Amino acid sequence: MTFSGTKSAVLLVATLTVMLAGCGSDSGSDESSSAPAAASTEQPTQDTVADVANDAGDAASEVMSDAADAVDDMADTAQDMADDVAGEIKEAASDVSDTVGDAAVQVAGDTAESTGGPCDLAIGVGDTISYSVTSMSAPSSCSDVTVTITHAGNLPAIAMGHNWVLVAESDMDAVVAAGVGQGADGNWVDAEDARVIAATRLVGGGESDSVTFSLSALDAGTNYVFVCTVPGHWSAMKGAFTVG
Ligand code: CO
Repeated sequence: MTFSGTKSAVLLVATLTVMLAGCGSDSGSDESSSAPAAASTEQPTQDTVADVANDAGDAASEVMSDAADAVDDMADTAQDMADDVAGEIKEAASDVSDTVGDAAVQVAGDTAESTGGPCDLAIGVGDTISYSVTSMSAPSSCSDVTVTITHAGNLPAIAMGHNWVLVAESDMDAVVAAGVGQGADGNWVDAEDARVIAATRLVGGGESDSVTFSLSALDAGTNYVFVCTVPGHWSAMKGAFTVG
């Protein structure tokens, strides 16, 4: 079946080819009479096409060359930008490194102080109207002194809170009186009062607070006291603060 089918197809194609060849020779003889005229007009056109092709080729290579230059420029610019970014990243990394270094030094410093250096003073309070010490002294070699008050009791600040305020003995009464107006929320002391050399916040049971001040704020010939400015506490909670 397939073989005879193929044979039929071959015969059909052969027949068609013969018919087309016949048509071709007829029309070919018609065209051959006008062929020379067509050829004479086509020749310049071909030259023009060739010129255009050449021009196009030249233009194309020029464009390619310009494009190559532009790509080179872009590559240079990209490299410059990459260098700039790399430089900035390097600088930023260096800054971060410096900051981390500073933070590490700070933490180390804080750790050293919290272990109890000579310039780090501690005082305790609790659920009674009293301090754990009746006097305090800071070495004169300290530029800064940190005082930490720790409440070891259970009562909240509103019921049995305490603070630690450093003033000249002659200013104590006035500072305590002025502190009443601040209320518990204001730690019972006006920290902006020029007579207040240093003041912690009000602490209740389980809380602590620290304050750091410079010994340069103290005069050699003046007597200083630390006092709790909570109303009613000052008479029982006060002591001498000396430098020596
Ligand atoms: Co008190």
